[in-house]
Amino acid sequence: MDVKDALNARRAYRAFDPVEISDNIIKELADAASLAPSCFNNQPAKLIFVKNKEQLEKTMTALNKGNEWAYKDSMIIAVLAKKDFDCVIKDRLYYLFDTGIAVGNLLLRAVELGLAAHPIAGYSPEKTKEALSIPDEFEVVTLINVGKKGNDMSALSDWQKEQENNRPARLPAENRYSIDRYDEKLNVRPAR
Ligand SMILES: Cc1cc2nc3c(=O)[nH]c(=O)nc-3n(C[C@H](O)[C@H](O)[C@H](O)COP(=O)(O)O)c2cc1C
Repeated sequence: MDVKDALNARRAYRAFDPVEISDNIIKELADAASLAPSCFNNQPAKLIFVKNKEQLEKTMTALNKGNEWAYKDSMIIAVLAKKDFDCVIKDRLYYLFDTGIAVGNLLLRAVELGLAAHPIAGYSPEKTKEALSIPDEFEVVTLINVGKKGNDMSALSDWQKEQENNRPARLPAENRYSIDRYDEKLNVRPAR
């Protein structure tokens, strides 16, 4: 699969079927994340692959309302980072930026491995830390829900069903990029 195909195939799917998570899958995902660039090669992204049934169930207690679809996960990847482990250049903090690139790599490799991998912000960091014994000094940047794309949408709300079949629209090109200089058309966010 080439990069363009993986970019097109990656979706934040919510209808999951179970999938066997082998040690090799974990290694492949971790290696893909590790190849991301980071400021001074600081590699701030730390990953906890949660696949044990009991640990998964504990971690699922951290999910917010609206993310019940994730109860069908075969694995949750808790992504941690610490501000001090990466570049701080005056008021520019790079730990979340570098962690995001690593997650982007991981998501694309997951596509190539035939997995659905969906990052979320809708969870309690406190409950996640408690479930996985994560020290307080780390931030839980995202939880990545991993399964195999399925067809059972019974756990999905109407808008989630709509998004399952149709990728949410992107901003028009003029609101995403400009050439040679800033354009005030960039100064918008998607309508809610
Ligand atoms: C940081 C982040 C937080 C997100 N949080 C949630 C979430 O809590 N629940 C959810 O169902 N989807 C969540 N998503 C998925 C986005 O809604 C989804 O990526 C977006 O609508 C674009 O759809 P696509 O990824 O299928 O192209 C999140 C994605 C990101 C990157």
